Amino acid sequence: MRRSDKREQELDSRIDLFRKRLKDSDDLKVKDDVFDTRTLMNLYYLAKKGYLQALGGPVSTGKEANIFSALGKGGDLVALKIYRVATTEFRSMQDYLRGDPRFGNTKGDRRSLINAWTRKEYRNLLRAEEAGIRVPHPFVVRENIIVLEFIGQEDQPAPLLRDVQLDSEEARRAFEWLADAIATLYRRAALVHADLSEFNVLYPGHPVIIDMAQSVTLDHPMARSFLRRDVSNLVRFFQSRYGIGSIEEVMARLKPQAKDEEAPANGQG
Ligand SMILES: Nc1ncnc2c1ncn2[C@@H]1O[C@H](COP(=O)(O)OP(=O)(O)OP(=O)(O)O)[C@@H](O)[C@H]1O
Ligand SMILES: [Mg+2]
Repeated sequence: MRRSDKREQELDSRIDLFRKRLKDSDDLKVKDDVFDTRTLMNLYYLAKKGYLQALGGPVSTGKEANIFSALGKGGDLVALKIYRVATTEFRSMQDYLRGDPRFGNTKGDRRSLINAWTRKEYRNLLRAEEAGIRVPHPFVVRENIIVLEFIGQEDQPAPLLRDVQLDSEEARRAFEWLADAIATLYRRAALVHADLSEFNVLYPGHPVIIDMAQSVTLDHPMARSFLRRDVSNLVRFFQSRYGIGSIEEVMARLKPQAKDEEAPANGQG
């Protein structure tokens, strides 16, 4: 058998696996919306490059993206985030892309915007990780697909911050960790999450921040107001659930500090 035949056969068997998993999944709409031909081609590409060995089950269907578990390189469990190209409300993405110097000249058609959006999430996660914030490690991005570190165990994603009940000591630790994370993102990564809430923090025993496509650099005209919203979401949640935390406590961390000079925030990257 020619090498290329063999490779095609391998790919075909992976495709079958994807299809089979999809049939098992009960969400028919998801099947059509998520797995258009081009997305399938991109999945085969990732499979060919070894980033995906098998598709697991659906984890979540959000407003814009679907998350699946999968087996990645070396058999590690990964999360596959696939932005739906056909049915995403993509016009609002423009407002977040235009103000970002990394993506300012993205074309205005649906596919270009969604691909830029996906790449933006990948770059933001990397940049947050480089600044020392616990986020899922992003392994690779391909058009509308990101392969991420899976946060959870054996196909079971970690619970959201919203769905765990912490004791008072843990709650204090989690609040301070998140307040520090907002400040570190701002000061060291020059980013604002812009959708931070109890719905975008996983809690596998400690907070892990997720969902960063909408996160913007400080050059964005709305960066300050997104920052204020993130801070007030954090305080609102911890106040109402645990009776702790204040806006002032978080804002105090945002002031430039001496140690910032060791690692100046970089506007690009
Ligand atoms: N790396 C990950 N590991 C495990 N589970 C994940 C991971 N990323 C996301 N999830 C799961 O998928 C859900 C949705 O992820 P995310 O918030 O990134 O997508 P979204 O498109 O914003 O969805 P939504 O519109 O519901 O917020 C999360 O709440 C979480 O349960
Ligand atoms: Mg989300």
